[in-house]
Amino acid sequence: MERVLCLCSLAVVVLVVACAPEPTATDPIARGRQVYRELGCANCHEGTITNFLRPVGPPLNEVGRVAATRVAGMSAEEYLRRSITDPGAYVVPGYPDSMPRGLARDLSPEDLAALVAYLASLR
Ligand code: HEC
Repeated sequence: MERVLCLCSLAVVVLVVACAPEPTATDPIARGRQVYRELGCANCHEGTITNFLRPVGPPLNEVGRVAATRVAGMSAEEYLRRSITDPGAYVVPGYPDSMPRGLARDLSPEDLAALVAYLASLR
């Protein structure tokens, strides 16, 4: 009986540790990746079980490189920031202008900068 109790408490400890929220990363790129996940960007930008034939938005796996080529005279970082805070400003050809407005509304300036740094690192 004691053994079962012991195993049960061990299982509870493992479960609590595994489910604890990930601590906020301090490295900007790692933090940006967390923000990307928290805001659900992947729901539209990566294949999922419901949209595997064609994700709603363009792939972002090389967006750090692509962003620098989108608008003449605009740096990758500037373009990425604008794409997040004002998605209708530039619409990628072949895609609907359906990226939600206000996704970044509640982000701190640091988290927005981290998200941009993360995207810019995808090359
Ligand atoms: C509801 C679906 C949806 C969600 C959620 C979404 N996007 Fe988008 N996104 C799109 C669509 C559609 C486009 C293409 C049209 C456009 O350019 O606005 C796009 C375009 C972009 C672009 C421009 C890509 C390029 O190749 O020029 C970036 C960068 C981007 N999204 C980043 C993000 C980030 C970061 C998030 C999370 C904060 C996010 N998106 C969430 C649908 C979405």
